[in-house]
Amino acid sequence: MRNTEQPKTYRVKSFGCQMNVYDGERMGELLSEQGITAAPEGEDADLVVLNTCHIREKAAEKVYSDIGRLTKGKTQKKAPMIAVAGCVAQAEGEEIMARSPSVSMVVGPQAYHRLPEMIAGAVSGKRMTDTDMPADAKFAALPQRKKSAPSAFLTIQEGCDKFCTYCVVPYTRGAEISRPYAALVDEAKMLVDGGAREITLLGQNVSAWSGEDDKGRAIGMAGLIRAIAAIPDVARIRYMTSHPADMDEDLISAHGEVSKLMPFLHLPVQSGNDRILKAMNRSHSAESYLKLLERFRAARPDLALSGDFIVGFPGETDAEFEDTLKIVDAVGYAQAYSFKYSPRPGTPAATMDDQVPMDVMDERLQRLQASLRRDQQAFNDASIGKTCEVLVERKGKLEGQWLGKSPWLQSVHFTADVAIGDVVKAELIQAGQNSLGARVLENVNA
Ligand code: SAH
Ligand code: SF4
Ligand code: F3S
Repeated sequence: MRNTEQPKTYRVKSFGCQMNVYDGERMGELLSEQGITAAPEGEDADLVVLNTCHIREKAAEKVYSDIGRLTKGKTQKKAPMIAVAGCVAQAEGEEIMARSPSVSMVVGPQAYHRLPEMIAGAVSGKRMTDTDMPADAKFAALPQRKKSAPSAFLTIQEGCDKFCTYCVVPYTRGAEISRPYAALVDEAKMLVDGGAREITLLGQNVSAWSGEDDKGRAIGMAGLIRAIAAIPDVARIRYMTSHPADMDEDLISAHGEVSKLMPFLHLPVQSGNDRILKAMNRSHSAESYLKLLERFRAARPDLALSGDFIVGFPGETDAEFEDTLKIVDAVGYAQAYSFKYSPRPGTPAATMDDQVPMDVMDERLQRLQASLRRDQQAFNDASIGKTCEVLVERKGKLEGQWLGKSPWLQSVHFTADVAIGDVVKAELIQAGQNSLGARVLENVNA
């Protein structure tokens, strides 16, 4: 029942965070180099790579239903060769192999550069597993970057040493590693040569990145941002995700000095209550988080803020949850992600007493999301009348319509005579919950 034919086409389906999107692109490039081409939209692929996420239970369970659908011919006419990659592969590789006989390969996030050998093994009928974790070896073994969308991801740092008590990432991605400075500047140049105008630097703890220049001098995140800003065709730089513990003065100043660094910061707080933050093993308090934001806003007054929240961490009382609503009110996020706590196997919080009942979590999440929606709408409303640059990223649904992003990471739609990759000057004229309408004033490229 396992497909062992040499694949000619592939499809990578990525779930979870942006780093999985980056990994998915790189797997695609690697497969293309092997002569396996991307299956056209809507057509069957000979090889399907499920690039999975383990962060919450629902995300992790999805892989088994996807495997079932692929095997039973529900997703495409013919069952493909199946590879499971990403964080579920890392965390549950053996279980996947035992539960799903149709899976040919299990490949962890630090081992996917070995896909070509694994495919060769799968074609000869073997089942292949590689969940080794030599994070840096992967990048050196991957092919050069060639083509890029206008907005490109660049992984600069991977793994996490923070061990928040609810989180699987330190186990699925391994210890924090920083990719070398020179390799990153080179990759940024390749992306720009391939069409990128905006580069988003990625890491599970992106601001923990550290490196050395060619003279052996220490460089931090701000130094890397300045080096990438010096590449002439880079129009915009972003980074995510940061932990409050790693934000240094140099990075804060860069927000005030580097015009290509966009006025947007994704800085998860998780909870507004200090007892819960301590139980989560977050190293900040509600107050230290707010003080940090004040410093960023002093450097860049129009900074848009984004965050992540967990409701219903074990033991969270109603009053402790109210503190999360209070910090939301105090910050005024431009956008944010919020989740019900999901117990993950092997993490300390999963076995803590006082797990919060689902109906309580549901109610808290609804209240939190109502506040977050209110603030997002207010942020978007306050954008009306502003003139800003928009990077054109793709066509919209309507005839002649284009979609792009504002400096504050809002989706912007407009009708104009432009091309993908153009930077246009636009006036924001209409605000919805999740996007803005604009009138293009000038094509900055033309
Ligand atoms: N490295 C980033 C993000 C990691 S995962 C950081 O430290 O902030 C993305 C988000 O998923 C987290 O910020 C957290 O809000 C959420 N998350 C992680 N583990 C979770 C769990 N067990 N249950 C619910 N949400 C979780
Ligand atoms: Fe997970 Fe915490 Fe690390 Fe973020 S900092 S990846 S939430 S352990
Ligand atoms: Fe998910 Fe792994 Fe990213 S668990 S959020 S894909 S690091």
